Amino acid sequence: MQEPASEKLTTDQGTRSSRTKKPTASKFEFMVVSNRLPVDRCSDADDDGGDGWRRSPGGLVTALAPMMTKSDGAWVGWHGAPDETVRPFSHEGMDLVPVQLSSHEVELYYEGFSNATIWPLYHDVIAPPEFHRTWWDSYRTVNKKFADAVIRHAADGATVWVQDYQLQLVPRLLREARPDLKIGFFNHIPFPPPEIFAQLPWRREIIDGLLGADLLGFQRPSDAGNFMRSARRFLGASVKQQQVHVKGPDGEVTHIARAQAFPISIDVDQIRELASNPEIIERAKQIRKDLGDPKTILLGVDRLDYTKGIGHRLKAFEELLADGQIKVEDATLIQVASPSRERVEQYRLLREEIEGTVGHINGTYDTIQNTAVRYLHHSYPVEEMVALYLAADVMLVTALRDGMNLVAKEYVTARSEDDGALVLSEFAGAADQLKQAFLINPHDIDGLKSAILRAVNLPPKEARRRMKLMRKQILDHDVDYWSAAFLAALEEKVVRDDS
Ligand code: G6P
Repeated sequence: MQEPASEKLTTDQGTRSSRTKKPTASKFEFMVVSNRLPVDRCSDADDDGGDGWRRSPGGLVTALAPMMTKSDGAWVGWHGAPDETVRPFSHEGMDLVPVQLSSHEVELYYEGFSNATIWPLYHDVIAPPEFHRTWWDSYRTVNKKFADAVIRHAADGATVWVQDYQLQLVPRLLREARPDLKIGFFNHIPFPPPEIFAQLPWRREIIDGLLGADLLGFQRPSDAGNFMRSARRFLGASVKQQQVHVKGPDGEVTHIARAQAFPISIDVDQIRELASNPEIIERAKQIRKDLGDPKTILLGVDRLDYTKGIGHRLKAFEELLADGQIKVEDATLIQVASPSRERVEQYRLLREEIEGTVGHINGTYDTIQNTAVRYLHHSYPVEEMVALYLAADVMLVTALRDGMNLVAKEYVTARSEDDGALVLSEFAGAADQLKQAFLINPHDIDGLKSAILRAVNLPPKEARRRMKLMRKQILDHDVDYWSAAFLAALEEKVVRDDS
């Protein structure tokens, strides 16, 4: 998976962290700040050189690690264990500055405000967001902790890149304390239209927090547009083209914040290499064999999140089985649903719902030999994911709303033979780049069913035509391209647009 699995260790790791290396510098020229550090705890000392940490999977780390190791860089983030103090350390040449969170803060700032207020609000209120003042207070306190860590460690004139919705107040806090810094922010999730954002009791504070940045990156042009409309509507900001003229308390323009789309991508080289590895190719064949060599393997890979439209996908698949348009002897759907945010109520409810649906489908359509849905509530290493991508004839990405969806990009990248088919929600950012997918509206179950059937029965020539074009797009725009484009734009001198 591209996202680090949630880890919540409560044991005292003092001995372990004392074995890690000290950071190489105390002031850094380039700093990345994200809720999670780009390392996970591991118990198997053989895997990690014995310091108890392993680099997290995922494109963001891959794209930024070289900058961390080459330039004088450091990464600020939470290490994933509540109530535990970990000192700054270095892992595989990356300097890491851990931020400590108490279990109370994890509950209020992370599970509460980040994942039960902002997450549902920014994803089209698919689940109802909850607004609690205690959560907001904790969000402010914790954002200040992250900002303070940067303020302490950033060299004069350093570049700081803040990541994602958990840290929207950090840009403003940095600007106030350290006007010498160059501040970038990237929102990995959608930014909602002002009509939805309006619900947030602290909408002005959030917009003001973000406007501390020199450059705000979003996944889609529509996200950047939504942000600028909210800045105008809720703060009365003057917005020209992609520039917001940010004013201080005296009404004078203090700086210009730009808002632009920079669609994130994946570590293309890693996926391509794995997809051509004979062991992984062999593993893909084995998966097919283990499933009883069906004509068609369909695949879904998601964090178990209500934004992913897993229920809609299962409904469409079930109806195709019920209609007899797909037969359990011919087709299997593998659904990987990796555990996520399990202490948040909506996620617990979703798990019950999905597992009930899978049980119902399998109970109705399975035979002794054939299973309709192989449901796997696990996280897998990237090697196994690529084997699944190679085994799958049809990939189903049916998100109701998704900032980007990197699984779609990984699937396309892995298909080096230019075969296979992608069914992709138009509500995922990836739809902007993967135009030759079968684009669907997941709420339209009939439309989804007919797209699945077209993908299942796709003539090889047409499959090749589509996949070739999609692969070219991703191969030309990997995650290094993304980070280089963002950082180049951040360094650009801004000419004020007063037209
Ligand atoms: C999304 C968010 C990330 C987050 C990830 C995993 O991709 O944009 O910021 O890290 O989900 O969620 P978690 O809550 O486990 O960090």
